[in-house]
This record gives sequence, C-alpha cells and structure tokens, in this order.
Amino acid sequence: MFDFERPTSGTRALLVRIDFGEGEMDSRLDELRELAVSAGATVLGTLSGRRAKPDPAFFAGRGKVDEIAEQCRATNADLVLFDHPLTGVQQRNLEQALQCRVLDRVGLILDIFAQRARSAEGKLQVELAQLKHLSTRLVGGWTHLERQKGGIGLRGGPGETQLEVDRRLITQRIKRLNVQLVKLTRTRQTQSRTRARAQVRTVALVGYTNAGKSTLFNQLTRAQLYAADQLFATLDTTLRRLPIPGAQKLVLSDTVGFIRDLPHDLVVAFRATLSEAAEADLLLHVIDASNPQRDEQIDAVNQVLDEIGAGGRQELRILNKIDRTGLPPGIERDGYGKIRTVRLSALTGEGCADLRAALAEIFPSSPEISGQEAEPFQEGRNDDSESSLSESL
Ligand code: GTP
Repeated sequence: MFDFERPTSGTRALLVRIDFGEGEMDSRLDELRELAVSAGATVLGTLSGRRAKPDPAFFAGRGKVDEIAEQCRATNADLVLFDHPLTGVQQRNLEQALQCRVLDRVGLILDIFAQRARSAEGKLQVELAQLKHLSTRLVGGWTHLERQKGGIGLRGGPGETQLEVDRRLITQRIKRLNVQLVKLTRTRQTQSRTRARAQVRTVALVGYTNAGKSTLFNQLTRAQLYAADQLFATLDTTLRRLPIPGAQKLVLSDTVGFIRDLPHDLVVAFRATLSEAAEADLLLHVIDASNPQRDEQIDAVNQVLDEIGAGGRQELRILNKIDRTGLPPGIERDGYGKIRTVRLSALTGEGCADLRAALAEIFPSSPEISGQEAEPFQEGRNDDSESSLSESL
C-alpha cells in the first residue's frame, strides 16, 4: 500500500456523533461543540446517526461516510471531529474516504490541552500523552509524523518503512520527555514537602470543566486568573494563599477541569499536575448547579478523583452559579452537623462569606498552630518562569 499524506488540518469543522443506544444526543453534541470551539474550531455543522455497533473499518456505516463526505465538500470543511474514540485504521480509512483530516474525541482533548498548557511540566505531560496516543494508532499506509521530523539523516537505513521510522522517533522522544519530567516532578515534590513542614493546609478546587473554579479562585483570593467561558481555560495548577480570619494558614490551588471520558493516558500524564488535588487536606468540589447534566458531571469528577488516588479525601461540595438557579446561598450539614455543601455564586460573591465561615470551622486556628509562625508564603503560578512556592517555606 502507498503511504498517503494526511490531509492538512484546519479549523472549519464538522461534528459527528453516532448513537449506540446511550441517548443524550443533544447534550453530547453540545459538549462536543464546546470542546471544538475551545480548540479554536468554527463548527459548520453536525451529523448524527444510529448503529448497533461501530463498523471496524470506518466506525460509521458506509452510507453515513458518504453523507459526511458530501457535507465536507458542500461546506468546505477541513476537519471532521468524531465524538468517539477511533482506531488508527478507522481514522486512516476515514481520512482517505473523506479527503479531510479526522480527529477523535481523545485527539481533540489532547489538542486543547496542548494549546492551554502553560508550565514546562504541563507542556511535557501533554506532549507525552500525545505521543502515547499516537503510538497506539500507528498503521501502515499513513504518515503520522511531519516529514521534517523524520527528515534526511534521521530516517532509517534502506528498507525501513515509514511506520518503523515513526515508531523509532516516538520511542526516542518519549524517553527524552520522561527524563525531563522526572527532574521537574522532583522540584515540585520538594516544594510540597516544604509546605507541609510549614504547617500550611492545602485546599484544592476540583470540578467539571466550566463549573466556575477559576472564578471562585479569583473571588476568594482576589487574583485575576484567566476565567473564560470555554472549556479547560485553566490547565496547570495555580496556587495562592487564602487568608481567612480564624482559620489556619491555607493555600488554595486551582486545578485542571475534569471531563467525562477523559482519556486514561491523560489522567496518568496529568497525575503530577493533579497531585495538588490528590495531596490536598480538603477538596472543594465545584459544581455548576445550573447545568442540567450536573449529576453526570459530579460522577465524572469522582471517577477521575478515584483514578488519581484522591477518592477518599475530605470533600466539600460547592453548589455554584446559584444566581442562575434561584437557590438561596448557605451551608448544608449532614445529620451529624458536619458541613457537606455550600451554595454560592462565585460570580456575584453571594454565599462566599458562608464558604469562608465553613473553612474557618473546618480548619480552626489552634494555639499550637497559630503560634508556630511559618516563613512568609510566596504566591505564584505553577509556571516555569516563576517559582510556584517559596523554597524557604
Ligand atoms: P475550566 O478552566 O474549564 O476548568 O473552567 P472553570 O471551572 O475554571 O470555570 P470558570 O471559572 O472559567 O467559569 C466558567 C464560566 O462560568 C465563566 O464564563 C464564568 O463567568 C461563569 N461562572 C462562574 N461562576 C459563575 C456563577 O456563580 N454564576 C454565573 N452565572 N456564572 C458563573
């Protein structure tokens, strides 16, 4: 089979979702649209279908593939996004049939992560996840890496196929990235140990993407973080001191937004970034109370928390965006009087005083701890250009 160059990718996208009996077509397509927009795409149209099971060669049925090809031509689309995982073979066959770049859901999420990662560690993790994803879908007759990456000199000797070159280059790069990551992770671990020694309690914001974590982070710390109505606006962890009268020294961290069907490779790759959450003394699970899918979103977040080993952490649920729901602000307790939920609006600030009071109750400053003065805390972003936490802590 001849190698064929992948069609060049663009931003004019068609969205495809096939229903295999899960239902929820509209909300799933809405989420895919949001993902596509977050990646910088212009959505030209959506196509949906129904099948009993995926076609091994093309994922969709032949009739559906013809329909997508026709839409591609009619709209001049240069990207087709499937809301499903595709095998390498399916992706290659679809690109050949549609004459258009095809990306699956995992590829799309990886692309957004690649655009948003800010710190050196985050960037390395995304590239690693991208390479791992790519390495599982190397199939013949398809060029995977840019020609220049495997340019003259880098290619193997006579007889080495494009596939073998791709495999070799990927393995080499993965090795190099792993070495760099180990170094960066060591630095971060030192920082978190120094923080533990200084008796600083960490509170981590977790939640489904777009739930309002960055907005709440800003509201509580008065920092101007990037809060945008797009998915995954925040990627790397950001840390800031959270001064609350009557409470112990607290540090608040804002973490990556979670999403259902988060590719497992990505969860693994981001374990380090999410370790702020895994090691936190308290998780603030931010929930968009106005979203009709909120229960599914809560489950998706809990699943990721389990995967990163943060399943058993103490958790406080934040029912956010009450300004849209008409719910009153306030604290909800369980039968034992333990605070379980705080209702608030991160945008208007309503209910944020309740959250501060809840934190003071959960982490009361005790004479032993408040008498033990920590070194000055230096705030910052977990970024390569700034140290995220003072080494002197
Ligand atoms: P990711 O970075 O994707 O994880 O998102 P996030 O959870 O950090 O959400 P972010 O704070 O960026 O907020 C997402 C959108 O929701 C923004 O448009 C906010 O203005 C909006 N938003 C956040 N909190 C509230 C709220 O209490 N009420 C209303 N009406 N909108 C809110």
